[in-house]
Amino acid sequence: MTTVDSSGYAPEWLRLREPADAEARAADLVDLIPRKTPMVIRDLGCGTGSLGRWLSGRLPTPQRWILHDLDPRLLEIAARSLPHPTTVEAVDITRLTDLGDTTLVTASALLDLLTANEIRRLVQSCADSRIPALFTLSVTGAVEITPPDKADAALSEAFNNHQRREDRLGPDAVAFTAQEFRSRGWTVHTRPSPWRLGADQQRLITTWYQGFVAAAKEQDPKIQVPNRRITSVIVHHADLLALP
Ligand SMILES: C[S@@+](CC[C@H](N)C(=O)[O-])C[C@H]1O[C@@H](n2cnc3c(N)ncnc32)[C@H](O)[C@@H]1O
Repeated sequence: MTTVDSSGYAPEWLRLREPADAEARAADLVDLIPRKTPMVIRDLGCGTGSLGRWLSGRLPTPQRWILHDLDPRLLEIAARSLPHPTTVEAVDITRLTDLGDTTLVTASALLDLLTANEIRRLVQSCADSRIPALFTLSVTGAVEITPPDKADAALSEAFNNHQRREDRLGPDAVAFTAQEFRSRGWTVHTRPSPWRLGADQQRLITTWYQGFVAAAKEQDPKIQVPNRRITSVIVHHADLLALP
């Protein structure tokens, strides 16, 4: 299995990581979201709808969901994923400016893919309409592989630089987004949301590691890749809730 295929993020990869994502998300941030009903939740870069499946049961009803992604193949799966009225829209979320009657903007595993200008525009759109934002599972750049190898620091550095390609913020996205909201007078809460993968998640570990190495090699084709069997890994992420 690969994390991406010729059409974008592989649905099998998003399915494989969904339980680890659910386990990692900072549930206490959800309690801080204003309970304003009916809730209209706009999930940016929704993939197959993993965040909605985790979040919808934790929010008050009635709810209406608007799911955005570039990939119609993923949207087709996402459209059937929630027990609430759901609209799917195949749009580039970096071009979204009018958030309409949204009461909560969400995204998961998306912020690190965006550039500073794209995040600034997104934050401004939330600020213009005073819409709270929950952005979960952005990579922070730190990984802990067991057993460790002397190549790990170089692999991580190459991976993180790959994340920063084409001006994307990669591991710097959460700090940047927090600062953008704070500079507009918003309150920002952040929480660690690491994947802690052990022996029972071997398939996820293997697929994650293959993607990690492939990105590092694309960044630095001469990089040394050890032959190894990984028994556990911590992949650090952060969740961010911004409130007006
Ligand atoms: C890492 S996946 C995460 C998917 C989903 N949020 C999850 O947690 O399973 C990133 C998703 O963002 C989508 N995406 C990336 N850039 C986008 C953009 N500019 N506009 C809309 N969707 C985008 C991709 O197609 C992909 O589905």
